Amino acid sequence: MLVALREIAPEAEVAPLAEMVTTAQDARFGDYQANCAMPLGKLLKRPPRDVAAELVAKLDTQGMCHPAEIAGPGFINLKLNDAWLTAQLQAAVADPRLTVTPVEQPRTYVIDYSAPNVAKPMHVGHIRSTVIGDALYRVLKFIGHRVISDNHLGDWGTQFGMIIYGYKHFRDESAYQDKPVDELSRLYRLVHRIIAYYEGRDELPILETKVAAAKEACEKLDRVASDKLDKDALKKLDKDKKRAQDNAASVAGEWNALQSKLAAEEADAAFIDLARKHATIQTAVLTETAKLHAGDAENHRLWQEFMPPCLSAIEEVYRRLGVTFDVTLGESFYHPRLAEVVDDLAKRGLARESDGALCVFLEKFAAPMIVRKKDGAFLYATTDLATIRYRMQTWQPDAILYVVDHRQSFHFEQLFALAQIWDCAGVELRHISFGTVLGKDGKPYKTRSGDTVGLTGLLDEAVSRARKIVDDAEKGAPRGQELNHEARAHIAEVVGISAIKYADLTHDRNSDYEFSYDKMLAMYGNTATYMQYAYARVRSIFRRGEIDVDALRQSGAKLVLVEPAERALARQLLRLEEALEQTVADYRPNMLTAYLFDLADAYSTFFEQCPVLKADSPTTRDSRLLLCDLTARTIRQGLELLGIPVVEQM
Ligand code: ARG
Repeated sequence: MLVALREIAPEAEVAPLAEMVTTAQDARFGDYQANCAMPLGKLLKRPPRDVAAELVAKLDTQGMCHPAEIAGPGFINLKLNDAWLTAQLQAAVADPRLTVTPVEQPRTYVIDYSAPNVAKPMHVGHIRSTVIGDALYRVLKFIGHRVISDNHLGDWGTQFGMIIYGYKHFRDESAYQDKPVDELSRLYRLVHRIIAYYEGRDELPILETKVAAAKEACEKLDRVASDKLDKDALKKLDKDKKRAQDNAASVAGEWNALQSKLAAEEADAAFIDLARKHATIQTAVLTETAKLHAGDAENHRLWQEFMPPCLSAIEEVYRRLGVTFDVTLGESFYHPRLAEVVDDLAKRGLARESDGALCVFLEKFAAPMIVRKKDGAFLYATTDLATIRYRMQTWQPDAILYVVDHRQSFHFEQLFALAQIWDCAGVELRHISFGTVLGKDGKPYKTRSGDTVGLTGLLDEAVSRARKIVDDAEKGAPRGQELNHEARAHIAEVVGISAIKYADLTHDRNSDYEFSYDKMLAMYGNTATYMQYAYARVRSIFRRGEIDVDALRQSGAKLVLVEPAERALARQLLRLEEALEQTVADYRPNMLTAYLFDLADAYSTFFEQCPVLKADSPTTRDSRLLLCDLTARTIRQGLELLGIPVVEQM
């Protein structure tokens, strides 16, 4: 289609028009449909049916399709040629890549994902970055690109100042000896709580002023004499009043919430006592961080002492999630390079001093990007600049993807704008943004006590629920209990963790989604459990029929597509490559989960309508077994590209 379009459409329109080829809405009309003749007709001021006819005449499907048909105002319907379908599938039987061809022009990608802050316990939010990043890494690599995964750990920021302060003032030595990570995370939370308390107290009068101003604005509008106004002005006045009232209600709500939060803290006498004794904690924490950065011996020693246990806790989470990285270069790695970066920016006239700080002013943005504070401290942005430069020098990437939550959009917009005029002209810099994981109440997912939910606890809970499902299924198993304790524990771990990962991947990454164990572990719907079950069910056919799959693949058995359900399954099996292309087009793993779900669906229909082991003839049986085998392999491959393992029996 692309080639045919190039001959008649203006160059700039070719790509968007070619994208208008989609899978057919109605299988009776074909497998694919091209809707591009209508807009192209409009563009060329020609009847769309004529344009469609010309496209069809120029179309060379290389034997893939039957002659195209034109319908209605100019829809082009394409039906895959069965001989081609069969030949492709036959090739897939013998091909470990399931006929997915590597891209012609491999690019080099660096993917920045996971990147938790080491001093804080990992929480539910880290799932998204880790899992989406890992899936993109796997898919890009599989389709033939060179990909480097880089875990940009937050191992150098204020959080370390916080735990150093906590360690020096609040440490419970025996708890620290016993379980260092738990104690450090308690210290982190305590320091965080005191700081939040003081920040809240500072915020309260500011909110009070806002409340008063908002009230005042309402009253002023109420005083406007409306009898002298014409209809339009009255309408506008009503609108303004409404807006002012909404604003007043919203700031009053904020004030109320803060007020009751502070009251709750003040009711905790022990906490308040501690907070009073540490009234200067905010600046003290900054000082501890600054000392660490300046090479203070004591703080540096503490940092070195804290890192290994914190890292091994994170490693343990990655091990369970099945995620690995090519490199892990945290913020601390870039510390020695920051001064040079800032000097370079200044030398090239990209940064200049303002109020004692060194800033980059970019036309598009109202606020400058600060790269060195008045007190000489560097910032998150400075580290990111040094990181980009290092990545450019080390790997010469064509693209750098940052899988980071949507709240950092502005940071990345500024960073990329600057990077483009600094070191990375022509490099694709992309913020792969994602939404928030929500609780049942529609607010960010929290524990009942209001804490963020720790990742380890989350994984444990999913595994224990999966275990219950496995045990229940075993109780009802027709042939009695088949699986021993170890096998069940293994299945529960795989199923539980996969459920969390897959649930995350099925959602469009830009949307928020509700975290629900029940939904993610459901047997029906687009869940990991359903997909893994679909896989195990296909595999069980081979066990039941005592069929040697390898022998079958090598036997030269032929595929014959007779029933519509066979044909529909065959067509879906061959769409893997297309699904992978769609996945990387805008970096959306949910395109792949959607494909797998459709595949499982096509398989279900096939399985209902076409007996396999009890097929009429050995030829049909072998052909159907080959379809089963391809289904199992495609599901396994697809899930593997999402970082989800399968089990042979469930
Ligand atoms: N550590 C950061 C955070 O938790 C995320 C880092 C993302 N990567 C980057 N290059 N800025 O917010």
